[in-house]
Amino acid sequence: MTTALITGATAGIGAAFARRLAADGYDLVLVARDAERLREQATELHDRHGIEAEVLRADLSEDKGIRAVEERLGDTRHPVDLLVNNAGFGNKGRYLEVPMADELTMLKVHCEAVLRLTSAAAASMRERGRGGIVNVASVAAFVPRGTYGASKAWVVQFSQGAAKDLAGSGVRLMALCPGFVRTEFHQRAGMGTGNIPGWMWLDADKLVSAALADLARGKSVSIPDPRYKVLMGAVKLAPRGLLGGLTSRTGRKYGPQ
Ligand SMILES: NC(=O)c1ccc[n+]([C@@H]2O[C@H](COP(=O)([O-])OP(=O)(O)OC[C@H]3O[C@@H](n4cnc5c(N)ncnc54)[C@H](OP(=O)(O)O)[C@@H]3O)[C@@H](O)[C@H]2O)c1
Repeated sequence: MTTALITGATAGIGAAFARRLAADGYDLVLVARDAERLREQATELHDRHGIEAEVLRADLSEDKGIRAVEERLGDTRHPVDLLVNNAGFGNKGRYLEVPMADELTMLKVHCEAVLRLTSAAAASMRERGRGGIVNVASVAAFVPRGTYGASKAWVVQFSQGAAKDLAGSGVRLMALCPGFVRTEFHQRAGMGTGNIPGWMWLDADKLVSAALADLARGKSVSIPDPRYKVLMGAVKLAPRGLLGGLTSRTGRKYGPQ
């Protein structure tokens, strides 16, 4: 039996990964802060698919929480074959409007936790000669706008570099870069989404299917939707200076408020 560990499994993209992987027959380790919600989800997935689902309550903005998940990933008696580093959130407000403590919490969850959990998983996967890791970033990684995008740019750079270092080891590592996905993300951050055009929204279940197909193909970065592939292709060609002003104006007009 193969086992997947998913952080941020209670909602949105993480919950979609849990549904899909349970349907594929994976046993699961579900990680987030809300233990009750995790337990309900574990019971539902066990009843529906007959898989084993462990609950690991951990706050990834704290050392203690990150350490608990590192320890689970290093457990050689119950190895994890697929890690999905998905937990994350947004802070409402532009640069200098967000309290520094909240900026640092974001770096802890989006960067430090991803670094430490990827490393814990990759070390034991490399010893076994197989495994997969998906680090959920964002298309925001490709545009110079805000500290959220900067933290996700770190996830993309780190994952691409580490994937190269792991080449030939049997361990696959991929950064997943979604566009807007209908989840609890914007509501939790208190962001309005009325200005985001309908065509820009992605479905979490379809996103997960495309992401797993890209991982199986051996991609190190996945932008799993044709609309965003075209958009990000244009972004890559645009001069950085022009892009900064453009994304700031467009973001204020069409992005989360
Ligand atoms: N939705 C989008 O438009 C979008 C676009 C691009 C990228 N993303 C990225 O996708 C990932 C998932 O976001 P989502 O849209 O699915 O958001 P969501 O619906 O709000 O889910 C976020 C998940 O992360 C968990 N989480 C948050 N802070 C945590 C912490 N400190 N420790 C442990 N778990 C924590 C939450 O569970 P608990 O509250 O129970 O801890 C929840 O399960 C994030 O990394 C986000 O940046 C989202």
